Amino acid sequence: MKLTNLLRQLLFLILTLIFSLGFHSCESKTSKDTSSKELVSLKEAYKDYFPIGVAVSPFSLKDSIERALILEQFSSMTPENVMKSGPIHPEIDRYNWRAADEIANFARDNGLKLRGHALIWHQQYPEWFFKDQQGNQITKDTLYARMRSHIHTVVKRYKDVIYAWDVVNEAVADSTHMVYRESSPFYQIAGEEYLVKAFEFAKEADPDAKLYYNDYNAVRPEKAKRIHQLLENLIQSGAPIDGVGIQGHWSIYEPSETALRNALDLYSSLDLEIQITELDISIFPWEKHQRPLKEGENKGFTPELEQKQIAQYQMIFEVFRDYKDALTGVTFWNISDRYSWLDHYPVEGRKNYPLLFDTELQPKKVYHKIVNFNQE
Ligand code: XIL
Repeated sequence: MKLTNLLRQLLFLILTLIFSLGFHSCESKTSKDTSSKELVSLKEAYKDYFPIGVAVSPFSLKDSIERALILEQFSSMTPENVMKSGPIHPEIDRYNWRAADEIANFARDNGLKLRGHALIWHQQYPEWFFKDQQGNQITKDTLYARMRSHIHTVVKRYKDVIYAWDVVNEAVADSTHMVYRESSPFYQIAGEEYLVKAFEFAKEADPDAKLYYNDYNAVRPEKAKRIHQLLENLIQSGAPIDGVGIQGHWSIYEPSETALRNALDLYSSLDLEIQITELDISIFPWEKHQRPLKEGENKGFTPELEQKQIAQYQMIFEVFRDYKDALTGVTFWNISDRYSWLDHYPVEGRKNYPLLFDTELQPKKVYHKIVNFNQE
């Protein structure tokens, strides 16, 4: 009886040993397989081309998985909202630094590059910015004093960590017959000169920062022409501008390769740096105006849409690589399909799948194509 028990125990021990050895060798085989298939991260794959960035919120930095993904994949960040004038400067004599500081500190602690976004914009500004105490529109001089004070305070606070700023955002009109967005309160008070002033104030505050003009639909031929005109005007007025930001809110339907190459050629001819500042590839056609969800629109990420998105991402990254001498950065707008601003804009509640990581934060097929571009 005693002997049988002993034998049983021995048999159990031997089996456990065999099983655990087998399991371990299988595990190490799997991780080996993965590492040989999955070459590197985005930032590693593109280290000889341009830094790869991502738009973040302080919220995403609190999620340990998102934080790890940012550190693993990206070499640069852009605050998605918290450095815009509305959130950061809610009252004339009060700044709200907390959220912006969290992002800046994360960048400082982890050695990430940081792009500032956005100093002067006709959206997400605080109500007080254009009004006096009686609620009347301020004069041009007061506007410049406020712009100067705002720009100096924000830019100086993050001077050690922000290497580039979107100084003016989206100043070109939507209607094709004019260059400037004349409905912007900045334009209404000061005319086109406000752009030059914004760049001058930013330069005073941080002479070392790269100063950008940033816009959307910037590779559509018609708008590219007007953005080019605005940039030429800025340069001629002596504005200290270093670069142009092409937002890159694109879709599986646009841009075409020709339009993209032509726009990059056009902007390069001005001798400005170029960055892709807000890249995402929507599965829906671009629309400007917000509207309600239509029935049947939430059709999910079908294999057909996925194929189109892969082809579009592959095409644009091939072009980006060709233009690596002109491009000084490519930044994705949000981290993964778990959350994208395109889930809310232009249609609230219409789920989009515009990024390289899926809703579980796992790399999508398209990620592998973009990273392993040498193996095509
Ligand atoms: C978007 C943010 O992603 C949203 O969270 C916010 O509600 C609206 O603004 N062009 C820009 C960005 O320059 O600042 C915008 O970001 C997207 C379009």
